Amino acid sequence: MERENWTSKFGFILAASGSAIGLGNIWRFPYITGTNGGAAFLLIYITAIILIGYPVLISEMAIGRKTARNPIGAFKKLAPDTPWWLVGALGVLSGFVILSYYSVVAGWGMSYAVKSIGGFADGTDFAALFGSHISSTFSPIFWHAAFMFLTVAVIGAGIVNGIQKVVKVLMPMLFLITFLLIFRSLTLEGALKGLIFYLKPDLSAVNLQTFVDAISQAFFTLSLGMGAIITYGSYLSENDNINESAGYVMFFDTAVAFLAGFAIFPAVFALGFDPAAGPGLTFITLPAVFAKMPLGALFSFLFFILLTIAALTSSISMLEVVVAFLVDEYGWNRKKASYFMGFLIFFVGLPPLLGYSSFSNFRFLGMDVLDTYDWFSNVIFLPTGGLLTAIFVGYYWGSTNAVEEANKNSSFKIGKSYRFLIKYIVPAAIIIIITLSLINSI
Ligand code: PHE
Repeated sequence: MERENWTSKFGFILAASGSAIGLGNIWRFPYITGTNGGAAFLLIYITAIILIGYPVLISEMAIGRKTARNPIGAFKKLAPDTPWWLVGALGVLSGFVILSYYSVVAGWGMSYAVKSIGGFADGTDFAALFGSHISSTFSPIFWHAAFMFLTVAVIGAGIVNGIQKVVKVLMPMLFLITFLLIFRSLTLEGALKGLIFYLKPDLSAVNLQTFVDAISQAFFTLSLGMGAIITYGSYLSENDNINESAGYVMFFDTAVAFLAGFAIFPAVFALGFDPAAGPGLTFITLPAVFAKMPLGALFSFLFFILLTIAALTSSISMLEVVVAFLVDEYGWNRKKASYFMGFLIFFVGLPPLLGYSSFSNFRFLGMDVLDTYDWFSNVIFLPTGGLLTAIFVGYYWGSTNAVEEANKNSSFKIGKSYRFLIKYIVPAAIIIIITLSLINSI
């Protein structure tokens, strides 16, 4: 079968932005910014996005378009008869693992969207409610299966009829809901205090760990280091421009992360809750905030729908990596590959899902199963994938080839600075963060 291409430039930009904008933006970014020095963190983060994220984003798109292959096929094509294909294999493995637990969390979000419809009673013990939800079995399994099914259905339908069609509807919805939530949040009395908490630069909160967090977040949020962008890039045509598209993706991703904080913190402060709740902010603090808010049921529903949409446009890019591999390399039918892999990934997601019930005795470095999957992905898989991709481009395939591919049809040309960043700065930064994260965890 003929390999598909995106049929419009914006189709690709929306799909790649959809991949980038996910749980990382709505759930993780606001709380790490709020607790890591506000505007001071933001500044470091934006620097990491531009100096480290952008060059890797461009590199992955260039590798993808040049080879028109899934990550394993792509490295095989550019470096035949060498072990470089293993970098692609690491990507496929990461897609597999990340999707398995990402779907579990997205399933929690879906179930909270449904729970929101009836409205949350003010005074509910939301920590207990969340605890009982994740430690039950039927409901989380049902929603995990439902979310995987949606992901599979989109990918099974193809690039143009599946991914592109869906992101053209969901991404505008995502922006619209974000703005509605910001409007609601900012018009509550006492909202200003939340903005001050979120953005007030606090240099005393900045230390080495802040840089590590900023760089890892940049990787995760731009979907780098696992071949998702290589795969999406492989459906680009010669007429598309890589440098500009990468710029848009970086901009939209940063904008939504930044704006999510505007939707969350003013409301949290206005209604008198603790902003430093960390990871529990989304599922424990926010429902409590919504319970106290006029029209809270509606806004709670919208928020969890937003979370689900953001997660879905990311999860499809993870499944696409795995499916493209079977389709390109083994000639599988796309639908069959999607259902088969979706099924398998569903099962791999069961241990993290049951980590709060049947498998609650499991501990790895003190972490439960879900956090363990997340740790391997964020500390080992993605940074290693990114590091090896940068080394591949800088020293094997050659930054000249990457620049030539990226500059085709782009009016914004890259050159010296890109080559310098990809050869020296990106690898050095990643080696430092992997080392520090390992030291910290063990
Ligand atoms: N970028 C997504 C997020 O921020 C996560 C993701 C990682 C998606 C890797 C695809 C590949 O949630």
